[in-house]
Amino acid sequence: MKNLIKVMSFNTFIPIFYPALMLPLRTFRKKAIGMLNFKAGDKVLIPGVGTGHDLPFIPEDVEVEGIDISDVMLGIGKVKLKALSPNRKINFVKMDAEKMEYKDATFDKAVLSLFLTVVFDPKAAMTEIVRVMKPGAEILVYDHLLSKNTVTSAISKPIDSVLSYGFTNPARTLEDCIDGLPLSVIKTLPGDPVGFMKGYLLIRS
Ligand SMILES: C[S@@+](CC[C@H](N)C(=O)[O-])C[C@H]1O[C@@H](n2cnc3c(N)ncnc32)[C@H](O)[C@@H]1O
Repeated sequence: MKNLIKVMSFNTFIPIFYPALMLPLRTFRKKAIGMLNFKAGDKVLIPGVGTGHDLPFIPEDVEVEGIDISDVMLGIGKVKLKALSPNRKINFVKMDAEKMEYKDATFDKAVLSLFLTVVFDPKAAMTEIVRVMKPGAEILVYDHLLSKNTVTSAISKPIDSVLSYGFTNPARTLEDCIDGLPLSVIKTLPGDPVGFMKGYLLIRS
């Protein structure tokens, strides 16, 4: 049910106001994605690619698979790419990140921007992402995840239970999303001027 409402949200009202929300974050997003050590020919996975806000900060000499469950977000992403970077080839695919069709150890890098606070089951999605990443692969998380046991976490919980039906889960923590998985957090950067968003660089062991 929650997943159905999320699919509906990301196929209806969210694509309308999303660009205005994302614009002020551009420089922070760029710095966060800049933590990844891209190499020519890398295979890069973007789960929940949406309309492609990460793409301008990813080099053109890598192969990108952008997956999403929303036809509308993917459709806008394809139109934007054609208009802004007509020579760039990005594979936009409709796929659920909780059950991906890729083989084990396919990707060198992943970019998860505003994805872990949206996906229905973040632990299931992270487990799948770990499965399809090569050992030593880098994962960039750019999101408004909380630290465990903070006051904000207590305040966010009631808000979370309401908003989670629509489009976001503000009470999630990175620790819970990656608990027990072969992932280490290597570096963290601020992701906005007030410290709500953060960039995290993770390595898959
Ligand atoms: C807040 S948007 C972020 C889009 C993009 N990453 C960005 O930073 O602008 C979250 C995206 O995740 C997608 N999404 C949610 N659950 C998903 C799932 N299980 N598999 C793939 N995509 C999912 C939504 O449809 C939406 O496009």
